[in-house]
Amino acid sequence: MNRMDDSRASVDWSAWKRILRFARPHRRDLIVLVLTGIATAVCDTLFPLITRSLIDHIEQFGAQFDLRPFVAGYAALTLALAAEVWVFIHCAERIAKHVSHDIRQAGFARLQELSFSYFDRRPVGWLMARMTSDCDRLADIVGWGSFDMVWGSSSLVAITAVMFMLNWRLACVVLLVVPPLMIISRRFQRRILLSAREVRKTNSMVTAAYNESVMGVRTTKAFGREEENLNRFMEQSDRLYGASVRNALQSAVYLPLVMTLGSIGAAMALMYGGVQVMDGALSLGTLLAFMTYARHFFDPVQEVATVLAELQMAQASAERVLGLVETIPEIRDSEDVRERLSKGWIEQGMAEDGYPLCFERIEFRGVGFKYEDGQRVLSDFNLGLRAGETVALVGATGAGKTTIAGILSRFYEPTDGQVLFDDVDYRSRSLAWLESITSVVLQAPHLFRGTVRENIRYGRLEASDEEVEKAALLVAAHDAILSLEHGYDTDVGEGGGRLSSGQRQLVSLARAVIRDPQILVLDEATSSVDAETEQRIQRGLESAFRGRLSVIIAHRLTTVRSADRILVIDAGRIVEQGTHQELMALGGRYHQLYSGQRVDERVRRWEPRE
Ligand SMILES: Nc1ncnc2c1ncn2[C@@H]1O[C@H](COP(=O)(O)OP(=O)(O)OP(=O)(O)O)[C@@H](O)[C@H]1O
Ligand SMILES: [Mg+2]
Repeated sequence: MNRMDDSRASVDWSAWKRILRFARPHRRDLIVLVLTGIATAVCDTLFPLITRSLIDHIEQFGAQFDLRPFVAGYAALTLALAAEVWVFIHCAERIAKHVSHDIRQAGFARLQELSFSYFDRRPVGWLMARMTSDCDRLADIVGWGSFDMVWGSSSLVAITAVMFMLNWRLACVVLLVVPPLMIISRRFQRRILLSAREVRKTNSMVTAAYNESVMGVRTTKAFGREEENLNRFMEQSDRLYGASVRNALQSAVYLPLVMTLGSIGAAMALMYGGVQVMDGALSLGTLLAFMTYARHFFDPVQEVATVLAELQMAQASAERVLGLVETIPEIRDSEDVRERLSKGWIEQGMAEDGYPLCFERIEFRGVGFKYEDGQRVLSDFNLGLRAGETVALVGATGAGKTTIAGILSRFYEPTDGQVLFDDVDYRSRSLAWLESITSVVLQAPHLFRGTVRENIRYGRLEASDEEVEKAALLVAAHDAILSLEHGYDTDVGEGGGRLSSGQRQLVSLARAVIRDPQILVLDEATSSVDAETEQRIQRGLESAFRGRLSVIIAHRLTTVRSADRILVIDAGRIVEQGTHQELMALGGRYHQLYSGQRVDERVRRWEPRE
């Protein structure tokens, strides 16, 4: 990701071809756009020819000839040009909008499928930028860039062809200015785009700095950092000023330079052509046409140079977007599973992959696991789980509890060994099946914008209002929800930000149980509620645990006492296991952890020791 914003020395056409594929469904618009580009270029080239003919007529006949055909010619060309401009703006805009929509949709669909590990490696801000600014940028290039490219190159070809047809010697003279024009345009366009980007970048940094200092104003004041903040802001503001001035200067130098070159071309045409006119070898009209062409040659050259520079600059955007859209999810149904999937199985009371809907046993057999560019978390990890039991995972921070739960839910797959559901490797079963029988409450649950009711229903979309409330009752969240301002219709805000973290946990618990899952995984699901509420939830959950495999992860050990089995995890290994009583009697690690917490709690409550 170190090449997030750089531009390339040359244009890699293969990436652009892949981006252009997004325009394929809009082929008709694209073809019309290309044809309009060519037609516009031809019209542009015809104007000086009419003028030439007019002047030649005046030279030949004085004022004694019919002007009407010329007026008609001008009028027709003007109308045609207007129509073409209308068509191409329409088409380019449509293509840009559609392509941007399609890329975004493809990206979004892919984001839904990608595995957890993909998101481990990419910050949210990065992904957002891909889907917003990169997308728009590419869509603009596909829409507008292709028109400019077609118009620019057709104009160049048309003007050159007409000049050679009229007088090839004079054409060669005029074309002398083209190589320097090309070189200067390429150089400057690139620089201008680079400094424009610098302006955009510093501008967004200034905005971010504003944002941060407003958001963090309390912290700033608390630490007495006002002065430093101001200095940092001034620095960035100065940078913005510098970049803007540079950008303006470059444009200020470039345009006159190009116009001068155009005039030099015209002057050369005048010098060389003037002599020929005097010799009678060239008509005055032709000379004027040449001078017009020479002066306007720089328009298409500039357009083509701009598009090339843009392609070069947006290369990184293209690669990033393709990198997202074309990524194949690491965890997905294998070829084998996909072949077996059939609706027919469901009618026979089986899962869609042809295996039983329910399971009896789950086994972690010699599981090893390592996060991408992380160190090994599990090695040769073995664990058997039975349907219906409640298993607690406890242990120090970073011991690997969340990782084990993640592998069980197939958010991550083992790097060695297997996870077996009734002796079938879960990679031989469909992901959708496992998803349909599993509910997970993550360590930091996320709620979506909407009401509490909608968020609970997210667990099972067809659930009725009664079922929503039943689920909330089950996890002892009902009263807490009713005490919110609008009860179940309270808006939770973006990401659940308007609820306290304890309330968020309650809602996500209800969301998890409403699905009536076979496997319920709770990762620190009640860590943010107060001890009293936790005990109430605990009693509720005990009935929620009934009949399903429940895996609970908790630091507060009072909440796991009633589990059928407690596993003490340390550095990715099970160091002790048994019921609360057995482990307490053992007097080992669990006993130590548990007693420590009891003491803590008493100290917190200012209770005298026994
Ligand atoms: N997404 C990740 N990418 C890389 N390494 C990770 C990732 N998640 C966890 N780890 C590492 O894996 C190890 C186990 O982490 P895990 O989250 O399983 O611990 P935990 O037992 O759940 O801890 P806690 O009680 O604090 O939640 C840690 O050393 C951690 O640094
Ligand atoms: Mg954890």
